[in-house]
Formats: sequence, structure tokens, C-alpha cells
Amino acid sequence: MAEIRLDVQSSLGTYPVVIDADVSGRLPPLFAGLGLGRDLVVVSCPPVWRVHGEIWRPLLGKTPAVLIPDGERAKTLQSVARIYDALVKCGADRSTTLVAFGGGIVGDVAGFAAATYLRGLRLVQVPTTLLAQVDSAIGGKVGVNLAAGKNLVGAFYPPALVACDPSLLGSLPRREFRAGLYEVVKYGVIASRSLFERVAASLPALFARDGDTLTALIAECCRIKANVVMEDEREGGVRRILNFGHTVGHALEAVTRYRRFRHGEAIAYGMMAASEIARARTVLAQADRDALWQAIAHLGPLPPVIDLKIADALAAIGHDKKVVAGTLHFVLPTSIGTTTIVNDVQSKELRAAMRAIGMR
Ligand SMILES: NC(=O)c1ccc[n+]([C@@H]2O[C@H](COP(=O)([O-])OP(=O)(O)OC[C@H]3O[C@@H](n4cnc5c(N)ncnc54)[C@H](O)[C@@H]3O)[C@@H](O)[C@H]2O)c1
Ligand SMILES: [Zn+2]
Repeated sequence: MAEIRLDVQSSLGTYPVVIDADVSGRLPPLFAGLGLGRDLVVVSCPPVWRVHGEIWRPLLGKTPAVLIPDGERAKTLQSVARIYDALVKCGADRSTTLVAFGGGIVGDVAGFAAATYLRGLRLVQVPTTLLAQVDSAIGGKVGVNLAAGKNLVGAFYPPALVACDPSLLGSLPRREFRAGLYEVVKYGVIASRSLFERVAASLPALFARDGDTLTALIAECCRIKANVVMEDEREGGVRRILNFGHTVGHALEAVTRYRRFRHGEAIAYGMMAASEIARARTVLAQADRDALWQAIAHLGPLPPVIDLKIADALAAIGHDKKVVAGTLHFVLPTSIGTTTIVNDVQSKELRAAMRAIGMR
């Protein structure tokens, strides 16, 4: 399959998103074509660098990558400081390009370092998880967590290039891969029934990590996200539809202290809850609600929620960033492929939906 290229307009100019199962073998010409690459610092994490680090050899030679520890616990200012130190040590200047090579954690941390060092180095995202390829690498949101909460410090900082290579996903643990697929399902529900149906129809090829199947699917998700963020870079309006499933999902992550669920798994529950609210309001047909629940069930088992208290999750929702000036903006599906944003969802409806997904 030929490479797919999308152009995303942002406040800092237009950047290409290239999706291609060979792109990691063509990095030097790609970088050269964009005037990047003479002075490069690559940030990664050990599990990714161990397996895929060699793709950077033609550009880096023997220069090592800056490695930050793996996992959400490393999404901190401390990791950002580690990158600053490395940048100081190698004498980085405004002509340096910082590459984020890893999942969403590396992308967010390295992206924040790029946004802030010398008031901005050029940033390239080379995402290595399905979640990062369909979601976090595009749109320019970067940032880190504080002890007080997730993503509390950050910036909007569009990259100069996003290069998605689906062949890098071959080494991704199955659970991580599935976690990304729930976000793909999300794009289907908010914007494209055909994408939604394609996931269900191509599960064997997807789980076999077939390059062409993945390239087409990732490109479709990138197209949807790109269109949304181009319309609303800073989440004043339409970008909120990307939060479908995230109100209840974030609450589940918070009440389990980010230990039980992969992000996508929590979002799967969140989408089920939102579709249940929509069905109860009769803005969503029962058949569409069932189709979503089935699609999620087909992707495999989710961690249990039976021991989680609805009251705790409701309290967590009260603290969610999506509560803007005291109003909870809630994304409800109106069909597979369309949504509406409402701000009058009552705790009673949330309680019923959480009971429906199995909480107590
Ligand atoms: N900036 C945004 O717009 C945005 C959007 C969504 C999510 N996020 C953030 O993304 C983060 C989650 O990202 P994630 O799900 O990619 O998690 P992650 O970065 O922790 O990666 C998941 C795991 O997979 C490993 N891994 C990554 N690529 C691999 C590969 N090719 N082969 C083998 N192992 C590999 C990682 O080392 C890690 O252990 C969260 O912090 C979330 O807040 C940001
Ligand atoms: Zn998400």
C-alpha cells in the first residue's frame, strides 16, 4: 500500500502526517525533504528503544537516544528535566529537532520539552503505539501530570511532522493494541459508521497486525482527528466530541488510581455508559447502542468494574477538566457516526448508566 499523507493546518503552520508501513525505513529522505534532520535529538523509552532503536541509525549514527522511564508514572516534570539536561549537554539550539519516539507518554513528555526548551524546538512525532498513532501524536496537545492530577501542565504545540509506521505495532503487547482499538471504535461512533463497521469486519487482519489493513484504518482515524482539530485547535467547541466516552472513562481511571485500566479500556466503559444515557433519552436507537456494546465485547474482556462505587466515580466526575465553569459537557451519540453535546446530564442518569455497565 502506498503512503498516505494528510496535511494538518495549525496555528504554527501546516504539518504533514505520513502513514506508511515502510516509513521507518525512509526517515532520512523524509526529514531532508522537510528541512529537518541535521541536528536531531531522539527521546524514547527503554522498551521501544530496545526493539526499534536501530531505525534511527541512518540519522543518528551512534548517538544515543535520551531515554525516559517507561509508563504513566514517568509523565512528570522530572522526565522533562531529564530531557532539558540532555539538550543542554549536547548544545541544542533553535535549529535542533526533537523527536518523540514512543507511545503517548513519550509523545506528551518530549512534546512538552520541545514546546518549552528555548521557547520551542521543532518537534517530530514518531508514535509507536496504536493509541499514539491514531490519537495523541496529532493535534498538538503535550504535557505532563502533577501529583494533584493528570495532564495538569501542558501546552498546545503542533509538531513539524507526524510519521506513523504501522509495522512498529508488531511488537506492541496485545493488551496495548486492544486499548488503541477502543479509540478507533470511538472515531467510528463520533464520525464514521463505515469505519466502525470496518473494525468489526477486519478483526482477524487487525489482530494479525496486517500492514495494509492497519495503514487504512490509522489513516481514517488521523483524518477524523485532523479535521476536528483543524476546526477547533484549542477545544472551545467541536474538539469536545473527541471526549466521547471520556467523562466516565476518566472517572474510572481516577478511582482506580490509573492502575487497573489501560486508558482505552476505561474509555470503552465510558462509551458504553454514554450510549446508555443516550438510549435512555431516546436520542440513540436501541440497535445502535447494542451495536456499540457488541463491538466492544468483540474486542475482548475488560477489567472488572463490579467493585467500583458509583458514588466515588460521580465525585471524580465533579473534578474532571471537562466540567467547564461548573457545567458538565457530555458527548452523547445520536447514531453510529453522529453525536450531540449536551450540558444537562443529571447525576441520576449517570448513576443508571454506571449501574448498566456493572458498577455498584
Ligand atoms: N496528547 C494527546 O492528545 C493525548 C491523547 C490521548 C492520550 N494521551 C496520553 O497518552 C498516554 C498513553 O499513551 P499510550 O497508551 O501510548 O501509553 P504508553 O506510552 O505508556 O505506551 C504503552 C506501553 O507500550 C510500550 N510500547 C510502546 N510502543 C511499543 C512498541 N512498538 N512495541 C512494544 N512496546 C511498545 C511502552 O513502552 C509502554 O509500556 C497517556 O498519558 C495519555 O494522557 C495524550
Ligand atoms: Zn482517549
